[in-house]
Amino acid sequence: MLPFARGCDKVLALWGEPIMELDIDALGEDVGLFDAIRTCRHIRRLKPDPVPKALIRKVCEAGTFAPSGGNRQPWLFVAVMDPERRRFIAERYREAFMSYIEPARQAARAPDYPDAKRRNMNAAIYLAEHLHEAPVHLFVAGWKRRGEAQVQALYPAIQNVLLACRAVGLGASLTSVHRAFGEEIDEFLGLSEATPSCALLPIGWPKGRYGQPPRASVDEKLFFDRVEGVDLTARERRADAPR
Ligand SMILES: Cc1cc2nc3c(=O)[nH]c(=O)nc-3n(C[C@H](O)[C@H](O)[C@H](O)COP(=O)(O)O)c2cc1C
Repeated sequence: MLPFARGCDKVLALWGEPIMELDIDALGEDVGLFDAIRTCRHIRRLKPDPVPKALIRKVCEAGTFAPSGGNRQPWLFVAVMDPERRRFIAERYREAFMSYIEPARQAARAPDYPDAKRRNMNAAIYLAEHLHEAPVHLFVAGWKRRGEAQVQALYPAIQNVLLACRAVGLGASLTSVHRAFGEEIDEFLGLSEATPSCALLPIGWPKGRYGQPPRASVDEKLFFDRVEGVDLTARERRADAPR
């Protein structure tokens, strides 16, 4: 039995092991911060096995330690676990995602389309096709301020949730295309016009492994005192190219 599987909170099947008990308080507490940061890639292939509510509470609690303007803490978390409700959400997500991804799908037919991008796209398509199977659809919503959605106040909390998922061994990803059906989905979730959702994090036990996501070196991104020796307009010129 794994060290964190003492003193039970909930019972579930994990990593193909027989039924085991999880010590949710201990789970993830020993994972190094930098290791978690470096290996917090998007996990979109998820097992349908249930996730204890106490574990969802734990990762959302990590979200609540994020900073926010004036420490207003505008976030609300809505974890949809009911299969019928997840199906309703997944149908709308799929429709929105498939039209969003179509240009990239066309572009990916080119033989020189980068492999890393193709893998990422295929994983995102897989998620769209299997979203109803993800045992938790975690929505992050937030109060508007002066009539404006405060998404900038929600993303630090979202990143904390993603890191906490990584630490406890849950797979998770950040999505937002449900906003194409935003009003309908928000109403379905019991959210008001004053508290729109901004992100949907499908969460579950991963089918694959964590690992370092493909990223450019920090040495290409970090400058001291002044940006020099790099053509910043090159990216702008590419902005209209299909990605
Ligand atoms: C603001 C934001 C919105 C995103 N929306 C979606 C989405 O709707 N669907 C999706 O599959 N991925 C979405 N992503 C994920 C990215 O497309 C990208 O796949 C991811 O950052 C790369 O994963 P990696 O960390 O494993 O490299 C979103 C990311 C961000 C930051």
